[in-house]
Amino acid sequence: MSKIVSVHSFRGGTGKSNISANLAVLTALKGKRVGVVDTDVQSPGIHVLFGFDEERIERALNDYLWQRCRIEETAYDVSAVLAQAPVPPPPEAAIYLIPSSLRTGEIARVLREGYDVSRLNDGFRELQDKLRLDYLFIDTHPGVNEETLLSIAISDALVIVLRADHQDYQGTAVTVDLAKRLETPRIMLVVNKVLPPIDNAAISQRIGETYGVPVAGILPLSEDMVRLASSGVFALVHPDHQVTDVLRAVAAQLP
Ligand SMILES: Nc1ncnc2c1ncn2[C@@H]1O[C@H](COP(=O)(O)OP(=O)(O)OP(=O)(O)O)[C@@H](O)[C@H]1O
Ligand SMILES: [Mg+2]
Repeated sequence: MSKIVSVHSFRGGTGKSNISANLAVLTALKGKRVGVVDTDVQSPGIHVLFGFDEERIERALNDYLWQRCRIEETAYDVSAVLAQAPVPPPPEAAIYLIPSSLRTGEIARVLREGYDVSRLNDGFRELQDKLRLDYLFIDTHPGVNEETLLSIAISDALVIVLRADHQDYQGTAVTVDLAKRLETPRIMLVVNKVLPPIDNAAISQRIGETYGVPVAGILPLSEDMVRLASSGVFALVHPDHQVTDVLRAVAAQLP
């Protein structure tokens, strides 16, 4: 059965897009067919990590939302990135990217008019079906809005990213509470940008107890990640890195 994994955080800049792209790639490398949707229509960005030139975006998620095309027409095969892996990926491995538009007019229209969120739900289902996906990863806009609620409600797994920051702590409580109410089958916390040295056991216990949800991974504040500056997918550029090991462990915990 095809699974939907949403990656969310209450506050911005926690590392959602980087974590989404890495989990998607690490999952595809296991021989899975994977889709990645940029539902951050207000400030899209995950396409950058896949080296996908915005000039190539002929049809974006927006075009589907405004009923200009079918959703599968907005999906771009970006499986070529998997060739960067040190070991050739299994032949069935594939990644499709569904970008959001970077055109100012398109973003302004979404902000001004909103859109029919139920259409997003239908679109996800159609993508799973038409592209024969094993996993659909949803990279979200921070905070809580209608599409966040939808993505949380329909996800098989919700990855909530937080930093060791007091503003993140409070916001995360809101998101965890929502996910519990919406009965998301699997809720996983990923703590990102933690200043080393990291006491894994202490952080897992404290955060796990605070939210009543397991900590799936703790990622350090990484100079190599800063240096990469979203110009690629970390796990492909640094396959033997400690950060990649943690990302791999998080991917292994997905349903
Ligand atoms: N573990 C890390 N160590 C250092 N820098 C990181 C780490 N994780 C992410 N970053 C950096 O933090 C910035 C924000 O990351 P990213 O865009 O993935 O966050 P986001 O949550 O998707 O942001 P937004 O809320 O704007 O969509 C990027 O410059 C990224 O390279
Ligand atoms: Mg993002």
